[in-house]
Amino acid sequence: MRIDIITCLPRLLDSFFAHSILKRAQDANHAQVHVHDLRDYTSNKQRQVDDYAFGGGAGMVLMIEPIAKCIRQLQSERNYDEVIYMTPDGQRFEQKTANRLSMAENLIILCGHYKGVDERLREHFITKEISIGDYVLSGGELAACVIADSIIRLIPGVLNDETSALTDSFQDNLLAPPVYTRPADFEGWKVPDILLSGHDAKISDWRFQQSLERTRTRRPDLLD
Ligand code: 6GU
Repeated sequence: MRIDIITCLPRLLDSFFAHSILKRAQDANHAQVHVHDLRDYTSNKQRQVDDYAFGGGAGMVLMIEPIAKCIRQLQSERNYDEVIYMTPDGQRFEQKTANRLSMAENLIILCGHYKGVDERLREHFITKEISIGDYVLSGGELAACVIADSIIRLIPGVLNDETSALTDSFQDNLLAPPVYTRPADFEGWKVPDILLSGHDAKISDWRFQQSLERTRTRRPDLLD
């Protein structure tokens, strides 16, 4: 999979993708992340990417020209499954969406900023608008990192058995069960006996019951 992220703050994204699972995924060529600086696509001398809103009002708007130029150039090089715009008024991101997007080959993610992007971009270039929750961030960069992370870790081969995504919370609309590691007894706080029993079927059953109970008490909305 290839993900192209378009932003006016490229440095904000670089370090995020240079570490941990996301770095390993790229090193092993399961995923490529390319970050594009919007300023490289400007045609004015000041490399300006935003301007005042027509009709007045506070806040700057990202201009259509540099973004259109960047998207068109990428689209001339390969076919994209989606051109995603990160915006608080987009569709709320869920595991279901991550699962679906993890099967894509090429994705463009456009990060919004200031008061947003010129509406004509949304009408003519964007195929999917995503929000990561009902709160406002200063830009779409963090949100783009969030969705790229959740998508890339689902690509086959990125996670190994120990980090398998199959047992994640939300993967079956249930929260994950509690987990423990050594020591089995910490100052009298003991790990549940069942987990030390070696009885796989009983352990699976216990974990499922714990998942159900957790979901019932913490997120009953998921069981509806
Ligand atoms: Cl995608 N962008 C911004 N700026 N704020 C958000 C968001 C996105 N999702 C939730 N809040």
